[in-house]
Amino acid sequence: MRPLQLRRHWSMSVLRLEHVHKNYMTEGIPVAALQDVSLEFQAGEFVALVGRSGCGKSTLLNLAGAMDFPTSGTVAVDGVVTSQLSDAGLTKLRREKVGFIFQSFQLLPTLSVIENVELPLLLDGAAHARETALARLRWLEMDGYSGRMPYQLSGGQMQRVGIARALVHSPCLLLADEPTGNLDNATSEIILALLRTIATEQNTTILMATHSVEASSMADTLVRLCDGRVTELLQPVKSKPSSVATY
Ligand SMILES: Nc1ncnc2c1ncn2[C@@H]1O[C@H](COP(=O)(O)OP(=O)(O)OP(=O)(O)O)[C@@H](O)[C@H]1O
Ligand SMILES: [Mg+2]
Repeated sequence: MRPLQLRRHWSMSVLRLEHVHKNYMTEGIPVAALQDVSLEFQAGEFVALVGRSGCGKSTLLNLAGAMDFPTSGTVAVDGVVTSQLSDAGLTKLRREKVGFIFQSFQLLPTLSVIENVELPLLLDGAAHARETALARLRWLEMDGYSGRMPYQLSGGQMQRVGIARALVHSPCLLLADEPTGNLDNATSEIILALLRTIATEQNTTILMATHSVEASSMADTLVRLCDGRVTELLQPVKSKPSSVATY
């Protein structure tokens, strides 16, 4: 699939990072995982986050999903500064605004496909959890597998279930940490095309950490990190990157 060349009229920022620093202390030694990162992404923007292992991609995703907080600077999701929220506010933000998909899918092995997808809604006490979960699976052409257990699925099918679960709340921000890292090329293409469709048709902002050139070529925007700093920002990506196989 070709990268989107025309951008819609984006009015509101779904994710904003301002002068974000993130330090970890490891055995008394500080590690600067992110250094002075300022970025802003709009509704429906598909962003690829690239850079060598250890450059800070997962750290940035964790901050964007309010799973962790900056040492200094601010992260705002849909206009709300994450570090200013109470525990209840954080739970609400994570449940309503953010969806996560993972390289290792992270489906619960003892629950069926439909139970995995409806679980976030049940935890939230939402009405019509089963119908909503089934509708998401149908959209991903996985409704025929709803009674199966995760071990009875292929990797690509498991990732589609993971995406259904991440979308079950209709989040404005979808965070994907190497979502095709465990998939073969053909299956990766299917998953990437799905993510492209989700951004374009559902106006969901997607932030995807990846080592794959193919994956980053599907995005509107490319952010390259090096040692925790943004060293390149291409917004939107106009041509495919060079022939180097991985970043
Ligand atoms: N919980 C933590 N405690 C201490 N250091 C951490 C922690 N999490 C990450 N780091 C360090 O922060 C830096 C950035 O790590 P991060 O996981 O964000 O990299 P990454 O770009 O996602 O790498 P990869 O491509 O291998 O997944 C690394 O130096 C890492 O060792
Ligand atoms: Mg990572």
